[in-house]
Formats: sequence, C-alpha cells, structure tokens
Amino acid sequence: REQQAADGYDPDAGRGCPHARFVLDPATPSLHADNDRLRAAGPLVPVTAEGVPAWAATRYATLLTVLTHPKLSRDIRHWATRDTCPAGTAIDRIVTDTSMLNAEGDDHRRLRTPVAGAFTARRLQQLRPKIEALTDRLVDALAELPPDEPVDLRKEFAYPLPREVISELIGIPAEHQDALHELSDAVAQVSDTLDDSPDVRRALHELLDRIIEERRDTPGEDLITDLFRLREKDGDRLSSDELFATIELLFIAGHVTTVNLITNAIGALLNRPDQLELLRTGQCDYSAAVEETLRWDSPIAYFPMRYAVQDIEIDGVRLRAGEPVLACFAASGRDPGQFGENADRFDITNPPNAHLAFGHGPHFCLGAPLARIEAEIALKALFEAFPEIAPAARPEDLAPLDTLLGNSTRSMPVLLGP
Ligand code: HEM
Repeated sequence: REQQAADGYDPDAGRGCPHARFVLDPATPSLHADNDRLRAAGPLVPVTAEGVPAWAATRYATLLTVLTHPKLSRDIRHWATRDTCPAGTAIDRIVTDTSMLNAEGDDHRRLRTPVAGAFTARRLQQLRPKIEALTDRLVDALAELPPDEPVDLRKEFAYPLPREVISELIGIPAEHQDALHELSDAVAQVSDTLDDSPDVRRALHELLDRIIEERRDTPGEDLITDLFRLREKDGDRLSSDELFATIELLFIAGHVTTVNLITNAIGALLNRPDQLELLRTGQCDYSAAVEETLRWDSPIAYFPMRYAVQDIEIDGVRLRAGEPVLACFAASGRDPGQFGENADRFDITNPPNAHLAFGHGPHFCLGAPLARIEAEIALKALFEAFPEIAPAARPEDLAPLDTLLGNSTRSMPVLLGP
C-alpha cells in the first residue's frame, strides 16, 4: 500500500460510482496503451467500465488469482451496486443470468457437465472434415473475386466460418441462421452500427425459443437434441430457462470470439512477412501462430466481472464485499512479468505459452479446442490458397471494435493477389 501511495495510486479511488481513476471507454481506441498503464498502476486498479466501477486485474499473476479465487464469484447476485449502476451494460449482461458462465459450485457443474460432452475429442474429430469443407468453400468464393480489389476478410472469411460451425454443432436449422445471427451480433456488439436494445434481446429470445421447440420435434445429431435427451433421462436437471441460456451462451461465446481470433491472426501475420514465411515453409506449425495470437492479441479485451462475496485482500489490495473485479485478458497476455521484456512482440517461434485467453479454473472456456481447430484450419487454407496476399491498409488505420469486450478491428482489408 505504501508503495502504491508513493506511486500516486489510491486504491480507494473509484470505489463509489462513478469516480474511478481510469475510464475504460471503447471510444478511445488505445487498448494496449491503456493496458500498459493499468499494469503499471497496480495489481488491481479502480476503473469504470461502461460506467460501472470495478477493479481491473491486468497483471498475469493477479488475473490467475482472480480466476481461481474461492471468494470471487461470477454470481451476479453478489454485486453490491448492481441496482445503482447503469443497467444493461454489455460487459456483464451479455448472457442470461441463468447460464453456466454466471453460476458457481454445484449449479455450475450441473450446467456445464452436459455441454462438456459436446466438445469431446470424438465430436471435434467428427466436425473437422465439416470445418475443412466450409473453409474450402469460403476460400473458393474468395478466389472468384477480382484479385486487385480490396476484400474485407473479417466479413468474407473470419465471420462466416465460426458462424456455420457453431450453428451445426448446436443444431440451428439453415432457414433461421441469418435472422438469429443478426440478432445475436447486435447483442454481442459485433458492430457498433447494430442495436442492442431490449427489443433486440426479446426478439433473440423469441427466435431461439422457437428453434429449440422445433428441435424437440425433429431431433438430430446436435447439442439441442442431446440436452433434450438428457432432460428426459434425468428429470429436471436443466430447467427450460437454463436450457435456453446454455444455447444462447454457446451461440454468442462461440462466434464473435473466434471471428476476432481469426481476424487478429490474419492481421498479425500479414504485417510480419518473416513470420508468415516460417509457416509457409513449414518451419513453424499453424497452431503456434494461433497460440501466439491468443497471447499477443487476445480476442477478448475485458470480460466478465467477478464479485467479492466477502471482504478480501488480493496482492495487497483490499476489496470490499460486493465489489466487482474485471478480468483483463488482453492485458495479461502482454505482461512482461510473465512473458519477458519482449512481451509486446508477436513471435511465433516463442515456446508454447500459458496465455489466459481462454480463462483458467472452473470457467475455463469450453470451446477452446474448437476455436483452436477452426483458426488453424482457416489460416492454413487462406495462406496456402493466396501466396501473394497482402494487407490493403496499415494496421494503425483500422478502426477497432466499438466494445470493451471484444478486441479486434472492424475490418481486415487485403489484396488477395493472383
Ligand atoms: C468461457 C474465451 C471460443 C464457449 C470462456 C472464458 C473465456 C473464453 C476467457 C472464461 C470466462 C471466465 O472465466 O469468466 C474464448 C475465446 C474464444 C472462445 C478467446 C475464441 C478464440 C468459444 C467457443 C465456444 C465457447 C468456440 C463454444 C462453442 C464458452 C463457454 C464458456 C466460455 C460455454 C463458459 C464456461 C463456464 O462458465 O464454465 N471463453 N472463448 N467459447 N466459452 Fe469461450
């Protein structure tokens, strides 16, 4: 505390709403610079995120503690100022309260276990040829475009692939996919032009409900069918609300994050021809590029809050019961304390790294193996199909997403070449 005071850092600043020391604002596109400042300021730093006062955990070691701390809960009912702070902020209301992401302990296990079955190695191996076929189709469509006109690879490549994969896994019929994705993109703030109003949320709920009901009558090889079967076998293990929340969570968590990963990897590699060459000549594996992107340019910037269930102290900072802590995944990936003095350099020859981009502990991302497979297949197919591919804009000219949650650019213009 004395050291913090000497640094001009007041851990009590920003406890009340809304006088925080740092304002995290999606309108100021300086994520990595902000994170450098936050990491330097202390292990837990008071911020306001979309008007919500919280403690930001930006250092790797502190984030690891936060993600596994027994007295920090994802259960939103522990949030003391829940009623006095701006409602409907995306940072913590993105998924329905009854989903596994917001549950702890026995409830969390009950909600997570049945879904974990969908991500077994066997299921993923079954999905692999489908992912490859989808990727090939997208690459073929790109090859039909004029080679000397810029193409936005976020829109034409990174976006559709995970969208179709997650729809297949969950069991979303083709005729509902467009409408469902439009609504969930709005809720997940994939683009700032989309509307995240209560009406949009309601429409998303109605459509998902309809799809789930239809699936009950026409079972298939998919997650909705699995969850229905489980309910029949095991009584009321999952309530209707919880089943809905599970599907919604997978649908949102499984899409935009992977779009960001693929977009960020393309950007990092296109602007570093030496690194791309290592992949093309087989000196490095595409999985190394995926892991390095996850560390260096995490698809999630700031996500979910955890709430102190009692007064606690973490790395010398005292938290009061009910105060929220924000996990800063992108910041932890560039922490020199963990990744050395070159932490801010993208280098796929780095040894395998223990990044936290998929979280850690009980809420560790269920879709991590799927996201990894998708990104690997996508990058390999793209860079093999277009040997002359080149960026069509400088990285500093690309607008970032207008959200605290996602870390990516709104577009990825490239020239595909002959
Ligand atoms: C949880 C990141 C892709 C499903 C999480 C968490 C992170 C994360 C950081 C943990 C949050 C916490 O500890 O509070 C990512 C990233 C992805 C990705 C960076 C892509 C690059 C996916 C995919 C799916 C998925 C493809 C599903 C198909 C989930 C689910 C949870 C989760 C269900 C909640 C787990 C729980 O609460 O027990 N993800 N995710 N994610 N992710 Fe992912």
